[in-house]
Amino acid sequence: MSEKDELLLEVIVKRRSGRAYSDKPVPDEMLESILEAGRRAPSCANTQAWNFVVLRASEVLNEAHEALSRGNSWAKEAPIMLIVAAREDGGCPAHQLPYFMMDVGLATENILLQSFHLGLMAHPTAGWNEEKLKEVPGIPDEYRIVTVIFIGYEGDIEELDERNREKEKTPSTRKPLSEIVHWNKW
Ligand SMILES: Cc1cc2nc3c(=O)[nH]c(=O)nc-3n(C[C@H](O)[C@H](O)[C@H](O)COP(=O)(O)O)c2cc1C
Repeated sequence: MSEKDELLLEVIVKRRSGRAYSDKPVPDEMLESILEAGRRAPSCANTQAWNFVVLRASEVLNEAHEALSRGNSWAKEAPIMLIVAAREDGGCPAHQLPYFMMDVGLATENILLQSFHLGLMAHPTAGWNEEKLKEVPGIPDEYRIVTVIFIGYEGDIEELDERNREKEKTPSTRKPLSEIVHWNKW
């Protein structure tokens, strides 16, 4: 493996979905490069099903926090909520699979990696009330919110409640390759 390959894998492995955010503002140039990374993702037949809605004005964030599930209250400290929304018919129709979800997933991973590369934390979530959240920025009915990514600088883990503090201290785990890779035969 070249040195370059090792560096990319290191970034992928080190990225975590952190929960302790600082209220330090994220510079516009950083946010723009994160959105650019999302836009550059591959998508089925280049359909680019994703839409990004950036919430960062404090009154808008306060309203959006009402839609969070109780388990995600840590997210209220993050200075940016990035909603990723798409139409269910926005992807390509191959195999009758909902490829809009794959487009959005690829854009999301680009966003997570670029955020981490810039020294920020980015945490994708599904724990919120979709209808309530759509009302805040006025997302049209025909769009679905697929994920909300919380972005910001890392804060102090000790300020989290005990449950979330423990989660932060738990090492990241994945299934071993032997369980998920099939060589030549399933
Ligand atoms: C689609 C999706 C939804 C998620 N929803 C939540 C969520 O609502 N709350 C939360 O704390 N983490 C959420 N996560 C983060 C996962 O729990 C996390 O990615 C997983 O435990 C692996 O940890 P890591 O990202 O730190 O490696 C979500 C991740 C994905 C991809």
